[in-house]
Amino acid sequence: MEELYKIYIKQCIELAKNGEGHVSPNPLVGAVVLDKNGNFAGSGWHQKYGEPHAEPNAIKNAEQNGFDCKGGTIFVSLEPCCHYGKTPPCADLIISKGFKKVIIGCTDPNPKVAGKGIEKLKAAGIEVISGVLEEECKTLNEIFIKNQLQKAPFVAIKTATTLDGKIATKTGSSKWITAEKARKQVHRLRNKFDAIITGSGTIIADDPSMTCRLTMEEDGICGRNPIRVIVDSNAKTDPNAKIFADDGTKVILAVCENIEDEKISKYPPNVEILKCSIDAATGKLDLKKLTAFLYERGCCSLLVEAGGYLNGAFLKAGLADKVYQFIAPKILGDDDAMGFVRGFDVAEISQGKTFKIQSVQNFDPDILVTYS
Ligand SMILES: NC(=O)c1ccc[n+]([C@@H]2O[C@H](COP(=O)([O-])OP(=O)(O)OC[C@H]3O[C@@H](n4cnc5c(N)ncnc54)[C@H](OP(=O)(O)O)[C@@H]3O)[C@@H](O)[C@H]2O)c1
Repeated sequence: MEELYKIYIKQCIELAKNGEGHVSPNPLVGAVVLDKNGNFAGSGWHQKYGEPHAEPNAIKNAEQNGFDCKGGTIFVSLEPCCHYGKTPPCADLIISKGFKKVIIGCTDPNPKVAGKGIEKLKAAGIEVISGVLEEECKTLNEIFIKNQLQKAPFVAIKTATTLDGKIATKTGSSKWITAEKARKQVHRLRNKFDAIITGSGTIIADDPSMTCRLTMEEDGICGRNPIRVIVDSNAKTDPNAKIFADDGTKVILAVCENIEDEKISKYPPNVEILKCSIDAATGKLDLKKLTAFLYERGCCSLLVEAGGYLNGAFLKAGLADKVYQFIAPKILGDDDAMGFVRGFDVAEISQGKTFKIQSVQNFDPDILVTYS
């Protein structure tokens, strides 16, 4: 029986991922309904912020397929809510439909729920089993969980390196380290995150547009561009850089608070200038305050796509929750070629920042190692 639970919760996780890029600040959730005889009846996921949650979508799908939910089982990757938000409580709907059993992946860290959804279901006489593929379900919602527990954005660094950890040659040449499949995956990551952060060094060297170029025809999903943020203390990036092109997505240029007005007046009107304070400890733009500000503005997840300096600064400030490292089977073997982390100087091996390998995926001929 336990194996069957895992199979359906795994299906919920995969369904939930269809909501990537559309549900923030809500969690990603998927649900599967079985009828009283254990037949698959329907499924659904939370598709868009403000719209129905996974449970009502799965129930509606089951009913449209001609099934009655009475006496059935609903599998859901996250504990059903029990409070009124933009939609009514899912626990109430499950009770009213007469389900006999609810199988849950993980509990909801939102203080308004946090176990109360389960209690409500149990109080109505429903059998509840929670914690099926719990770790996988928590990883699915690592952004939401950090937001809820720490009131801070989830920050990931994405980098493409050679086998010897380099992101560019000594001349600054970096196109392309990885091949097409890995680069496509980067677009999938961009679709998932609310904002991308890069540094002036990357804009000056590469002039990237940092958009999400996924199409329904080619990729099966229609990507959307995240907000783009350029950390550029002295506004030295070219106002004609591709990233400033007005494609309808917000672009923020984060500069130091004491910058002269004439330096920032050159940027097009679609670029929002954000004046940031200096961190007394580093003498650089304060990244903790920048990320806190972005969170207040609704950016629940930030993807850092920068060179070694900004990556290093995020790591040193203790702001990085995760690293996505695409590794190409190439060696530059050049002392002056840039590593993906700079300025994070440690004298002893024991002082190095340690991560846990979360997964290793193949994007032939490259791999993606994800660390958290
Ligand atoms: N392979 C990859 O995945 C990848 C990705 C991106 C870039 N790259 C390569 O990386 C190279 C550029 O690297 P980079 O290190 O010069 O660029 P970067 O990390 O993108 O930008 C560095 C700049 O950010 C600014 N900055 C503002 N606040 C900062 C803070 N608190 N801490 C640190 N920096 C801060 C600094 O300039 P100010 O002090 O003037 O503000 C600094 O020079 C290029 O060759 C590019 O091709 C490779």
